[in-house]
Amino acid sequence: MLVLGLETSCDETGVALYDSEQGLLADALFSQIDLHRAFGGVVPELASRDHVKRMLPLIRQVLAEAERTAAQIDAVAYTAGPGLVGALLVGASCAQALALAWGVPAVGVHHMEGHLLAPMLEQPAPAFPFVALLVSGGHTQLVRVDGIGRYELLGESLDDAAGEAFDKTAKLMGLRYPGGPEIARLAEQGVAGRFVFPRPMTDRPGLDFSFSGLKTFTLNTWQQCRSAGDESEQTRCDIALAFQQAVVETLTIKCRRALKQTGLKSLVIAGGVSANRALRQALEKMLGELNGQVFYARPRFCTDNGAMIAYAGCQRLLVGQHDGPAIGVQARWPMESLPAI
Ligand code: KG4
Ligand code: ZN
Repeated sequence: MLVLGLETSCDETGVALYDSEQGLLADALFSQIDLHRAFGGVVPELASRDHVKRMLPLIRQVLAEAERTAAQIDAVAYTAGPGLVGALLVGASCAQALALAWGVPAVGVHHMEGHLLAPMLEQPAPAFPFVALLVSGGHTQLVRVDGIGRYELLGESLDDAAGEAFDKTAKLMGLRYPGGPEIARLAEQGVAGRFVFPRPMTDRPGLDFSFSGLKTFTLNTWQQCRSAGDESEQTRCDIALAFQQAVVETLTIKCRRALKQTGLKSLVIAGGVSANRALRQALEKMLGELNGQVFYARPRFCTDNGAMIAYAGCQRLLVGQHDGPAIGVQARWPMESLPAI
């Protein structure tokens, strides 16, 4: 089955062609980062308009790269939520229009299920059951995964998502959007131990997270340095490292707890923050101690992309699931409400 996947939930237009027999044939991405950078974050209306501009050229590009024609496509998968409604509607309308024109089914994919399944595009792919840590700009969740659509939420952030904490912290230190890669870059030059930040909610039981206090802690530290006349690049790097270490260690402690609670030995990390090298290294070390294994996607498939949507959509289409012709998207959509396959 040849599936065209479209991702437009936020500030990336992602398009891919996935074949159930041959795997991923082509994928293309247009990132709107430069468009939104001047505003320090995503401007939803600008995002929607840009998705309209990029979608059809990207579809032509993946068809050409995969040496396929539109007539060979068996179905269209698109991100139906959660995300920015205007941006989602671009992908949904485009997918439904193409499906109608081509006489093939369309299926709406849950964006976080897309992220969760992206490591399935790698070798070796994780086998069910496993614990998944989903860390993106909008979500931080620990989930027990027994199969596609068999999700049990173990814990989640009570306030900011991990990626959001990276972005907001970077912004208040005057760094560019998106903040995650910027903080990670500065942290590489940081001196460990100069600043030590708290590990929120690790001293009490449970698997929930809270990252907004860490942002305030960073702001206070940065302001104290500035009022003492120290705005040096080294200080920024040292603060970036302290912040990143706090997030990474907090996530690692909760993952260890989730593995212990479930008795599982496989951990999948997915979403934009799973591209973070320090996080990968810390989790690899922890899973090594437990004789377990950690799985993640290549960096390009950690952040938003069309490949994960084509893959997730294909798995649902293969068991006969698809949508009617109505164009519907959901800004909020609990992943646990998805049907099992
Ligand atoms: O999954 P994603 O592309 O979009 C959402 O679904 O939200 O995640 C984007 C988030 C942003 O907050 C970004 O700052 C963060 O992922 N991110 C990172 C890194 N690369 C992207 N955070 C930490 N380290 C990175 N290397
Ligand atoms: Zn995402």
